[in-house]
Amino acid sequence: MNTAKLIRRFNRFRRNYFMDRRYGAFIGGVKKTPYPHLGAENTANIAYEELPPVFQGVVRPKEVLVDVGCGKGRVLNWWLDNFPGHRMYGIELDDDIAAATEARLRKYPVSVEVGDIRLLAPVDGTLYFLFNPFNAQVMAGFLETLKKRAASLPEDLPSPIQVLYYNCLHLHVFEADPDCQVTMIPMPPRFHRAALIKVG
Ligand SMILES: C[S@@+](CC[C@H](N)C(=O)[O-])C[C@H]1O[C@@H](n2cnc3c(N)ncnc32)[C@H](O)[C@@H]1O
Repeated sequence: MNTAKLIRRFNRFRRNYFMDRRYGAFIGGVKKTPYPHLGAENTANIAYEELPPVFQGVVRPKEVLVDVGCGKGRVLNWWLDNFPGHRMYGIELDDDIAAATEARLRKYPVSVEVGDIRLLAPVDGTLYFLFNPFNAQVMAGFLETLKKRAASLPEDLPSPIQVLYYNCLHLHVFEADPDCQVTMIPMPPRFHRAALIKVG
């Protein structure tokens, strides 16, 4: 590994470490999912530096934020810091991980719930964030749930429902659906692909 890469890695670790600590504990490290048979990916953490380009200019007034597969809660930390006053949810399939995240963030205005997003997508969710949480089959089920939520979204909330999909490996699920409008988000070269999807 060259020196520039090493320095970048060190700086990324340092930023993640200190921001995590502001919200209670360092939450780095990957946990293998106990639910591969449910199409789940492992619990990995986004780096804070990856979030600003994804969210730039997307959050509307009264936006209700949902982290789909919130894992250890790094996105929730960043939202608390950047979008105070917005209602926010983290939905996580892995009950051990969800319990730890719920305990760590209990004193903050965020709801962490354990279960499958296909069942637990909040009725007032308007902006859903995904960091490659599951396979294409689950993604198709999630999209069906979103369409139902879009049809009954409370009138005082921003519409249409938006999805920010980072490391969008199964984007074709949305691209193939005439109810979805997909726009790629320009990202710095070393980051994953990201897309903004409007549903309905
Ligand atoms: C790559 S991690 C992302 C963690 C976090 N969003 C972040 O960006 O740091 C994906 C998470 O999605 C969760 N997950 C997988 N399938 C799910 C489902 N059907 N409903 C809710 N969460 C799910 C996994 O357990 C895992 O913790």
